[in-house]
Amino acid sequence: GQSRTTLVVDAGAAEHQISRHIYGHFAEHLGRNIYDGFFVGEENRTIPNTAGVRNDIIEALKALSIPNLRWPGGCFADTYHWMDGIGPKEDRPTIVNQWWGGVTEDNSFGTHDFLNLCEVLGTEPYLSANVGSGTVQEVADWIQYTNHGGESPMAKLRRENGREEPWNVKYWGVGNEAWGCGGNMTAEFYADVYRRYATFMQDWNQEDSVGIVKIASGASSNDYNWTRVLMQDLKLNMVDALALHHYSVTDWEDKGPSVEFDENQYFETMEVALAMDTLIENHTAIMDEYDPEKRIALYVDEWGGWYNVEPGTNPGFLYQQNTIRDAMIAGATLNIFNNHAERVKMANLAQAVNVLQAVILTEGEQMILTPTYHVMKMYVPHHDATLLPSSFETELTYSYEGKSLPALSASASRSDDGTVTISLVNIDASETHTVDIQLNGTTTGAVNAQLLTSDQLQDYNDFDAPDRIVPVAFTDFTVANGTVSVKLPPYSVVVLEVQP
Ligand code: AHR
Repeated sequence: GQSRTTLVVDAGAAEHQISRHIYGHFAEHLGRNIYDGFFVGEENRTIPNTAGVRNDIIEALKALSIPNLRWPGGCFADTYHWMDGIGPKEDRPTIVNQWWGGVTEDNSFGTHDFLNLCEVLGTEPYLSANVGSGTVQEVADWIQYTNHGGESPMAKLRRENGREEPWNVKYWGVGNEAWGCGGNMTAEFYADVYRRYATFMQDWNQEDSVGIVKIASGASSNDYNWTRVLMQDLKLNMVDALALHHYSVTDWEDKGPSVEFDENQYFETMEVALAMDTLIENHTAIMDEYDPEKRIALYVDEWGGWYNVEPGTNPGFLYQQNTIRDAMIAGATLNIFNNHAERVKMANLAQAVNVLQAVILTEGEQMILTPTYHVMKMYVPHHDATLLPSSFETELTYSYEGKSLPALSASASRSDDGTVTISLVNIDASETHTVDIQLNGTTTGAVNAQLLTSDQLQDYNDFDAPDRIVPVAFTDFTVANGTVSVKLPPYSVVVLEVQP
């Protein structure tokens, strides 16, 4: 078949900013994400840590310029009572994690631990409030506790617990998956519940307050009715964003192995991952009917590949390996988000450490960076850059047993200094494809490029081979008359930085 196409990038038609928050992460109390992941305890003498949080994880996430971190769930959030996680640790009650393995937690990682970690990381916290099994008062108090700078009961309590200044938490989720683990509500019922909660979610309106962003629990994948009902029934001035969750899962009963998958499973995973584009288009079209000014954003606050757990690990812990397939999901999905920057203002990969499509895996003292981590790193130049419209003149296909998918995906942006960043993904399992990038409206100076790929789709980084898959300098391109011609090997991510 055809293996060459042109990507037209319109550098003169820049319109929307790609919010860096599209590159957000998610840390639920689930498996070994917080406990025995991020948090190894202040008493730990073998793993270097800052207030109990691993220094190697802090450094790795800082290198990603992690823009935000969502916590404490997920499903866990609607069981969490934040007051149990403040004050002297020895006095804190336990909590049984009913969704994830039934483990008993000692609440030693709580609000102070999380928000102080966010400060160390230089990242925006995103707190997911308990709507399913909590109270309006609890949420109202949590906001006062974290954000009130003056004299108030919760500010006083915060100070007694050692924190003088408020943290000014901006992002607040009003429940999680209200249609499922968050309470199995109908859209109509949740809309009422949302309005009640939002009424008491006070933005303390202090001088240094950033104002809070209220995020409604949104649709699962293609539940368009959910989006329509929320847009109809929520007072539009009471909501800032609708969430959307979409996982790359082919069969919820048997999700297939994370490593030993065959090409059919690969193809099907990519089909579900690429559906993100249509989902965003369709949810956006509904939102446009009620909010043509696009005041309300779409936050894809859970996404990623979800497979069967690694053999021998706790089924409730969702620990899976991360292969080149995951790099393909990440590269293609982030291109989709970039291209929808006008409406998609935040996204959170599920999840940060040791859970689902993690960027970091740990085992005892060891830590490895996954292929997904490296894709996130390669895409950092897109953070807060200006989206440049780009499109392929002809669509090349990846064919497998009579079925086909678009082989290539791309997005382009321009940073303040004029550098144009183009991220390209070739998901084809066997074909090399050539892309002639035609850059209109700018000059083409020096080009730097990086490549992420491996011998096998199933390759991954492991504790005994942590650098099997790392980005390398990429040179398989030519520049002539302003056109950059790039040869994309099978299952590869290439990011080019073109100086003006
Ligand atoms: O990310 C794992 C789980 O997936 C989350 O807790 C939940 O929100 C979703 O169903």
